[in-house]
Amino acid sequence: MSKYRIGLGVTGGIAAYKAIEVMRLLQKAGCDVSVAMTRHATEFIQPLTFRALTDKYVIVDDYDPENPDPIAHVNFSQEIDLLLVVPATANIIAKFANGIADDFLSSTYLASTAPVLIAPAMNTTMWEQPATQRNIEQLKTDGVRFVEPVAGELACKTVGTGKLEDVENIVRQALAMLDSTFQIPGSETRENLEPGTWNNKDLIGEHFLITVGGTREAIDPVRFISNHSSGKMGFAVAEAARKRGAEVTIVRGSTTANPPEGIRVIDAVSARAMFDAVMAELGKATVFVGAAAVADYAPAHAASTKIKKDGIETMTLELKKTPDILSEVSKRRKDGQLVIGFAAETNDVVTYAKIKMGKKGLDLVVANDITKQGAGFNTDTNIATVISRLGETELPLMSKREMADKILDEVLKLRKK
Ligand code: PMT
Repeated sequence: MSKYRIGLGVTGGIAAYKAIEVMRLLQKAGCDVSVAMTRHATEFIQPLTFRALTDKYVIVDDYDPENPDPIAHVNFSQEIDLLLVVPATANIIAKFANGIADDFLSSTYLASTAPVLIAPAMNTTMWEQPATQRNIEQLKTDGVRFVEPVAGELACKTVGTGKLEDVENIVRQALAMLDSTFQIPGSETRENLEPGTWNNKDLIGEHFLITVGGTREAIDPVRFISNHSSGKMGFAVAEAARKRGAEVTIVRGSTTANPPEGIRVIDAVSARAMFDAVMAELGKATVFVGAAAVADYAPAHAASTKIKKDGIETMTLELKKTPDILSEVSKRRKDGQLVIGFAAETNDVVTYAKIKMGKKGLDLVVANDITKQGAGFNTDTNIATVISRLGETELPLMSKREMADKILDEVLKLRKK
């Protein structure tokens, strides 16, 4: 007998074909998969494909005379250990969130007591609609888990968030919900891998919210105050966390480097905008990383038109303190949330970093001496000391990508404590 029974819901989106790969991987892991499709899903892929591969009738409409089970939504829903929906459209999410049961899949959701995992895929505008986000929040409150879509080129030829997450990652998260030791055969177990190796998924279940880059504080519509941050360090942490199985959201300030593929990016170029974006996303995060070089001061009054220089020899800019994102995150911290900061220093690096750690209530701080060659702003390498509640670790000159994994190893140690 198979170890777990999965109800795989498939809805009408271009990514419907990827549900076949999800089903195959689940079967490979020893699961018994039963498929339910919405009517629109059958416009993209035939029920016969799933029927041939599962050897089971695929229910689209439980009133269909060919359906062998007259009360299928009740039987189906009570015979599964997990309901997994891949891909999930905005429409099915809306139905689940509002208790609408006007087709087989939505009736199954209502009739089931099994845990539910949803992997949405849709156009960016639909994903970002307040209605869709409201429905998702409602479902999360109801206990539903999500594998959030990633950024990339979408079928509609636009670039943005809405692309289905990598199918292997979806399956891993589904299996982890059933049993944390359950693996896809051929994929390594956590125990036999060194931390940080490419396919070590030791951060599954974590959601990283990471600020990246510098900020720009407007003086007038053409001028701003900023710093040299390229975004390389923050993007490296984002890429490493995602490779290790975490969900990742980046809040990007001004950067010269490109974000890693497939990660959700929210643009917020000023300290105030970054503060607002972080607070809006914080509820989902299990780990917050402040890798951004946020301006400590911004012009108190940005001019609405270009400031003219005629007849003006000297000028005084009045600056006002920006909100401290990291301190506020730390204040609002909920149970289990880890708060990680960076400190860019020029002298007494560890001493100042420890003071910041205490003042801002951090679990861990990465202190970099930006005067050292190969460290700090806009380099591909870094040199740092990681100071955590558990102790200090010196990280000699290495690539920012390697350093990202070392930092995550320290985060993981804190998580296991
Ligand atoms: O982007 P790169 O070119 O790769 O460079 C990487 C880096 C040097 C920018 C990065 O490694 C780094 O050190 N980032 C933090 C730089 C910084 O602003 O340090 P700070 O000591 O001023 O701030 C301490 C911490 O408070 C930081 O985590 C910062 O994000 C946070 N902060 C600061 C001010 C503020 N208003 N809000 C904040 O959240």
